[in-house]
Amino acid sequence: MNLPESVTIYEVGPRDGLQNEKTAVPVAVKAEFLARLADAGLRVIETTSFVHPKWVPQLADAGELLAVMDRRDGVSYPVLVPNERGLDRALEAGVTDIAVFGSATETFARKNLNRSMAEQYTMFEPVVARALDAGLRVRGYLSMCFGDPWEGSVPIPQVVEAGRRLLDMGCYQLSLGDTIGVGTPGHVQDLVAAFGAPDPLAVHFHDTYGQALANTLAALQVGVTTVDSSAGGLGGCPYAESATGNLATEDLVWMLDGLGVAHGVSLDALVETSVWMAERLGRPSPSRVVTARSSK
Ligand code: HMG
Ligand code: MG
Repeated sequence: MNLPESVTIYEVGPRDGLQNEKTAVPVAVKAEFLARLADAGLRVIETTSFVHPKWVPQLADAGELLAVMDRRDGVSYPVLVPNERGLDRALEAGVTDIAVFGSATETFARKNLNRSMAEQYTMFEPVVARALDAGLRVRGYLSMCFGDPWEGSVPIPQVVEAGRRLLDMGCYQLSLGDTIGVGTPGHVQDLVAAFGAPDPLAVHFHDTYGQALANTLAALQVGVTTVDSSAGGLGGCPYAESATGNLATEDLVWMLDGLGVAHGVSLDALVETSVWMAERLGRPSPSRVVTARSSK
């Protein structure tokens, strides 16, 4: 099937998941969530965002969380940073990994960042330069790579051009975001091919149309080895209509186990964590694997 031997699971539940929850989650619960995810074997856990607290109140406690959480050896805890003010806050909190997040479309750049596409690069450039100078690792996200709720389908050359801008700034990786979950497997493979090489790419699928797992398999088959997912399938984006949860980490782990692709995560520990989190959030996990395993 042309699959990699191992995959890095880039867990985004504490950030992409919790940024979209209506229930206020106490800092202590977030800290325990992070600890449980690390105990389950996840080695990259996106922790929170240093964005404007009024734009994403759910993550307004980023500084406080970084101060109280337990940071495990061998685990990286990246955070989202949109601008220099966010970088100042992140540096003060002692982070070592950040991610900037751009848009492949004009409309979403304005809705999510209050900037045009051209202005988003101007905003990110000093962030990336200063972060690299300070020895941080910087990831780039690109949203709306497959479709945009306002602009419709997004041409592949437009996505590649925007993605290259972020890689050229010095991002070590580019995560291709299907923010509203409309992509399909052939489109995924065409987009990866258009970048020329899969090495700096990661994939970030939301499961709105039920395509996230199929899209992930398609990406693995063309050489992508980093996959974003969120424990229990938590998630969405408050600034994109119709964005639902990310690919659930449990669903990804189940597929990788079946394929014999190594990932280092304990499914049982993860399911237990998602059931625990669902109780805190007062709603069941949308993950099919969590549902199947917890109803046994
Ligand atoms: P703005 O309103 O244009 O900000 O927002 P500004 O630059 O004009 O600054 C206005 C005031 O905000 C200033 O204060 C700044 O200091 C303050 P004043 O001088 O007036 O007193 N400010 C900040 N305060 C704290 N932290 C900051 C910060 N920045 C400015 N970082 C901004 C521009 C980018 C800040 C805003 O649009 C924003 O925070 N956007 C983030 C939205 C967001 O987090 N969206 C969700 C994440 S993206 C996503 O989920 C997609 C992804 O998962 C991939 C996918 O699925 O596709 C990654
Ligand atoms: Mg997302």
